[in-house]
Amino acid sequence: MSHPAFQDIGACVFDAYGTLFDVHSAARRASDALGDKAAGVSAVWRDKQLQYTWLRSLMGSHADFWQVTGEALDFALAAHGIEDQALRGRLMELYLSLEAYPDVVPALSRLRAAGRQTAILSNGSPAMLDAAVESAGLNAILDASLSIEEVGIYKPDSRVYQLAVDRLGVEAARICFVSTNCWDAHGAAHFGFTVAWMNRFGQQDERLPGAPAAIMQGLDALPGLLGIG
Ligand code: LAC
Repeated sequence: MSHPAFQDIGACVFDAYGTLFDVHSAARRASDALGDKAAGVSAVWRDKQLQYTWLRSLMGSHADFWQVTGEALDFALAAHGIEDQALRGRLMELYLSLEAYPDVVPALSRLRAAGRQTAILSNGSPAMLDAAVESAGLNAILDASLSIEEVGIYKPDSRVYQLAVDRLGVEAARICFVSTNCWDAHGAAHFGFTVAWMNRFGQQDERLPGAPAAIMQGLDALPGLLGIG
């Protein structure tokens, strides 16, 4: 159903990992090697990856998302008593071809057809984002893929969200920002984007500044929210 806050949107900007790409598909695809540890390793891997971005930003010690993702994986494997460099290499390789959620292509195609710009704004390094976009076949339905490497600090620093305003030439309130990561949705709303928190997994709302303008369960709801078709 169309929503008053989303009636004058010029561009839709998407978080990448967890929103367009299923971060747990890497460990799932290596479950022959990880066995019943696959879900546990994947959960710790993701948690540590995000924590390390926040902590490095606070420490003023930036390293790109490829390095952070590798260090988080090292922690997750060690925490599960796994020492296997070949498996580490395989999981990192799989991170370059994560599965896109099935609602991604139909929703982005519809937005493009209705004249809205579409872009990714992600912690991912340019090479990681290029690989994931290419592997999921999203090139033709994305206008831009923006990496925080341009500003050298991670979400939710406001310089990251400002990057989308500057690069897309659309003012913040006319950018619809979509993230499954609730903390990212709050950060983006606090910055001034019009935010749709995509609560794919029925998670608890975060008690953080910034209020998402809408909550949806999947990307299929987005065109309707914008009053498209
Ligand atoms: C990203 C992380 C937050 O893609 O998932 O920026």
